[in-house]
Amino acid sequence: MKVSPSILAASLTRLGENINSLSAEDTDFIHIDVMDGHFVPVLTFGEQVTQAIDKETQIPLDVHLMVSNPEKEVPKYFEMRPHNITFHYEATDFPIRLAQSIREAGIKAGISLNPYTPISILEPLYPFIDLVLLMTVEPGFYGQSFLPTSFQRIKEFKEKCKKWKNRYGNPYPLLEVDGGVNDKNIEELTKLGVDIVVAGSYIFKAEDPNLRIRNLKGS
Ligand code: DX5
Ligand code: ZN
Repeated sequence: MKVSPSILAASLTRLGENINSLSAEDTDFIHIDVMDGHFVPVLTFGEQVTQAIDKETQIPLDVHLMVSNPEKEVPKYFEMRPHNITFHYEATDFPIRLAQSIREAGIKAGISLNPYTPISILEPLYPFIDLVLLMTVEPGFYGQSFLPTSFQRIKEFKEKCKKWKNRYGNPYPLLEVDGGVNDKNIEELTKLGVDIVVAGSYIFKAEDPNLRIRNLKGS
């Protein structure tokens, strides 16, 4: 299991310190929650803070854009060479074109689905995406409870991917989940074949964030 700590749940006045305290050995990615106060009620940070974080660490960035009009925002993150740029299906009318532009920049294209967006909408996108981020809470805040319907959605996603792989031949996209991940659901998420978990409060609201990361990785 790969782990992507969400720095939104860290102390925002001590971001550098928090980032530097993460063990580079155990931390696979740093999850950057960009929120615009429009697509979601909260405004967090954008490309400038992300750039500052990028300069502070060698750990690859996992950029999660919770913004309206992602066509305008996505290119601002190209120069930081993140591991992936993930935008929301609900925020754009042209997700295929947007995913293609991210791939053309040499970055993995991620698409995120809110908990009520049907998994089946991914079929036309399947050949164009490298990562799917299933929200396991409604986006907007850290510290919410994991939605119990999420396990069923993950199963459905895995089953549909098998069919789509046969149909279109593309390799499976990475599966990432985000929201309310903790020691109570990690076992099931691992069993279901999730590749990456995002965790905010479980990691940063603890005395030893690195220990929490290792707990999620199962080591
Ligand atoms: C929610 C964000 C998440 C959040 C995760 O909108 O996308 O990344 O920070 O925090 P926890 O793990 O506390 O739910
Ligand atoms: Zn997120």
